[in-house]
Amino acid sequence: MHVPKFFLRVSFRRLLYGICLFSLSAIFPVFATDIHAGQQIASEVCSQCHGMRQPAGLGLFPSLAGRDPRRIRDALRQYRSKKRLSPIMNNLTGSLSNKEINNIAAYYSWVEVGN
Ligand code: HEC
Repeated sequence: MHVPKFFLRVSFRRLLYGICLFSLSAIFPVFATDIHAGQQIASEVCSQCHGMRQPAGLGLFPSLAGRDPRRIRDALRQYRSKKRLSPIMNNLTGSLSNKEINNIAAYYSWVEVGN
């Protein structure tokens, strides 16, 4: 069967790009996240208790700003799967996708702690 050279070149390139992008996002998961999407969820939902740069209530809610994104992500996944129990957080994370969780974690870890 004769395959046009042009077709071979294009699809090989696409494959290469695909592999590069895939391995990049596997090595640097933070590149695959959308901080602005995370910010939106944080400001609409999470900030009511955790604040944006600092929690609202003194000592009632853990601070998230500036924390390691992996720790935020892992905590959210544990709440979602109910491995970690907290009625509030179990409820809130129930409908979050992995992507949303990564975005929120990226946002809060990027934010500077402050008033
Ligand atoms: C109604 C208040 C409230 C809202 C809204 C809320 N949280 Fe929480 N969050 C809590 C409480 C209370 C805890 C502590 C629960 C526990 O003891 O495990 C907590 C714990 C956490 C933790 C674990 C922190 C740690 O130090 O281990 C993370 C991460 C977290 N929340 C992220 C979020 C995100 C992201 C959102 C938005 C989607 C959110 N929370 C919305 C009240 C809230």
